[in-house]
Amino acid sequence: MAEVALRSVRKSFGRSQVIQGIDLTIQDGEFIVFVGPSGCGKSTLLRLIAGLEDVTEGELLIDGEVVNDRTPKERGIAMVFQSYALYPHMTVFENMAFGLEISKLSRREIDERVRRAAEMLQIGELLDRKPRELSGGQRQRVAIGRAIVRDPKVFLFDEPLSNLDAALRVQTRIEIAGLHRQSRATMIYVTHDQIEAMTLADRIVVLNAGQVEQVGTPLDLYHRPANLFVAGFIGSPQMNFWASEVLAIAQASVAIRLPSGGRLEMPAVSDGLAPGDRVTLGIRPEHLAVTEAGESGLRGRIDLIEQLGESHLLHIRVEGGSIITARLPGDAQRASGGEVGLQLPVDQCHLFDKAGQSVMRPVSTLS
Ligand SMILES: Nc1ncnc2c1ncn2[C@@H]1O[C@H](COP(=O)(O)OP(=O)(O)OP(=O)(O)O)[C@@H](O)[C@H]1O
Ligand SMILES: [Mg+2]
Repeated sequence: MAEVALRSVRKSFGRSQVIQGIDLTIQDGEFIVFVGPSGCGKSTLLRLIAGLEDVTEGELLIDGEVVNDRTPKERGIAMVFQSYALYPHMTVFENMAFGLEISKLSRREIDERVRRAAEMLQIGELLDRKPRELSGGQRQRVAIGRAIVRDPKVFLFDEPLSNLDAALRVQTRIEIAGLHRQSRATMIYVTHDQIEAMTLADRIVVLNAGQVEQVGTPLDLYHRPANLFVAGFIGSPQMNFWASEVLAIAQASVAIRLPSGGRLEMPAVSDGLAPGDRVTLGIRPEHLAVTEAGESGLRGRIDLIEQLGESHLLHIRVEGGSIITARLPGDAQRASGGEVGLQLPVDQCHLFDKAGQSVMRPVSTLS
């Protein structure tokens, strides 16, 4: 059980600062997921927490104590990497027990811990095998098992499932969720996978270029992204964006003009906005309503349809030339080249000012 806190943490490699000052408190027992584009500093942040890299500036605390100078062992943290380096000449049992051999645990205690972890991960039958006799998914579970047997206060996972096929990813994801539920350990998990982030996280931390863009529950980030970056990053396919212009402002709403010429009244905060300002309207593919051509002011032509089975993705070329994406149920009858109308339900739209910050009113003030 442990709370992990970062206070103005910075990390430089030579002259390049890759972590730009991060403040974050991860509560005891919380499941935190780091997401962000490649190179934004996710792995570096995990390595700093684990003690595999030195913090250049700032403080790292575990349960209120500064641990900057503690070795990885002293921190009570176990890390699972994307590339699970198992010892090829050792059996699964030996691989899992290896970290414990040097501890003061008795043989019996070690044996018990390994068997309990193996049971939980459904690799109990494989304990006598060598890594080369295992599938990729089984090897990854051994790597997770190796972390579990150490009974750490904090688990760090760096894209642990990215080498697995789709079905195994789902299965192992569920196992990790189960492991969290049982152990109530603090977990920090890095992934590129939206579904893993949304389903596993108590809170998601969106990182960009070594900085935190937003921290929130998965649904907070989905429904109330604080800025364009988060809006574009969370959700797949990506949110559609339209360059628009402020027409008029009222106390609790902002009227904007769409590129097509249409007008939309948004429940936005008008402070700091003025008529003529450039703003960006955002709407997710699943919230765009597709109608028959002529039923809506906004029109487009279907460029391409991607059939996903449970849904269709329509790539629609709208007036002005840009392409937007709409998600429709899989049984919707649409054909490429067809003309459609588009409706933008304002309660599902997002509005961002010219600096890219959301200007939507907080939900509690929506009537
Ligand atoms: N040992 C190092 N020396 C110099 N630069 C490094 C070192 N490790 C990482 N970097 C740089 O720090 C930045 C962040 O790297 P990091 O591995 O943390 O990114 P990431 O978010 O994990 O990316 P990915 O999603 O591709 O794994 C990158 O620009 C990387 O090149
Ligand atoms: Mg990485």
